[in-house]
Amino acid sequence: MVKKNACVFISGKGTNLKNLILRSRDNSFPINIKLVITNKKNANGIIIAKKNLIPFVVVNTQIKNFDTHILQILKKNKISIICLAGYMKIISKNLIKKFGKKIINIHPSLLPKFKGLNTFSRVLKNNEKKTGCTVHYVDEKIDNGHIISQKFFYVNSNDDEKTLKQKTQILEHQAFPEAIIKIFRKN
Ligand code: GRF
Repeated sequence: MVKKNACVFISGKGTNLKNLILRSRDNSFPINIKLVITNKKNANGIIIAKKNLIPFVVVNTQIKNFDTHILQILKKNKISIICLAGYMKIISKNLIKKFGKKIINIHPSLLPKFKGLNTFSRVLKNNEKKTGCTVHYVDEKIDNGHIISQKFFYVNSNDDEKTLKQKTQILEHQAFPEAIIKIFRKN
C-alpha cells in the first residue's frame, strides 16, 4: 500500500496529532505524517512532533501572503491531505482552492450543532442529551463541510466542561483515524 503524505495543522496540545502519529506507524493505515504546521511557536504539539522526528514549521499568520508560503511548503512535501487537529486559524478560500486536495477537520460537537468555539459550555447550557465529535471536509464556511464521521456519548447530569472535553477527546482519538481510513477506502 502506498501511503499518502499528510500534514497535520495544530495550535495547541496535540493529542490528536500524537494519536495520528501512532496510528500511522501501522502499515495498513493510509497516511504517513510527513509534516506538522502550526501558527503557535509554543504549541505543545511541537514537542510531540520533535519527539517523533516529524518536521514542523511555525508559520507567521500575521504576514501578508502567508497562505502562499503554506502552499509552497505543502507542495514541496508532496502533501495529499491536510488534517486540521485543533488549528485555531481559518483556512482561507484561497488556500482551499489552490491546494485542491483533501482538507479535513475534527470538531468537538455533533455538527451541525455548535459550530465555532466554546462547544462544551453551549452543550451544557442547551441541556443536550448527547454530544460528541465530528470529522468533516473543510469548505469556505466554518465547521460546515461534508461530514465524514461522527461519534457520540450521552451527557450525564454531573458532567461539566472538563468531563465533556475528556469524553469527547476519547472519541476524537477513534473518530479521526477511522475517518481517514474511510476516505481513502472510497477512492
Ligand atoms: C480537539 O478537541 C478538536 O476537536 C478541536 O481542537 C481540539 C484539539 O485537541 N478542533 P488536541 O490539540 O488534539 O489535543
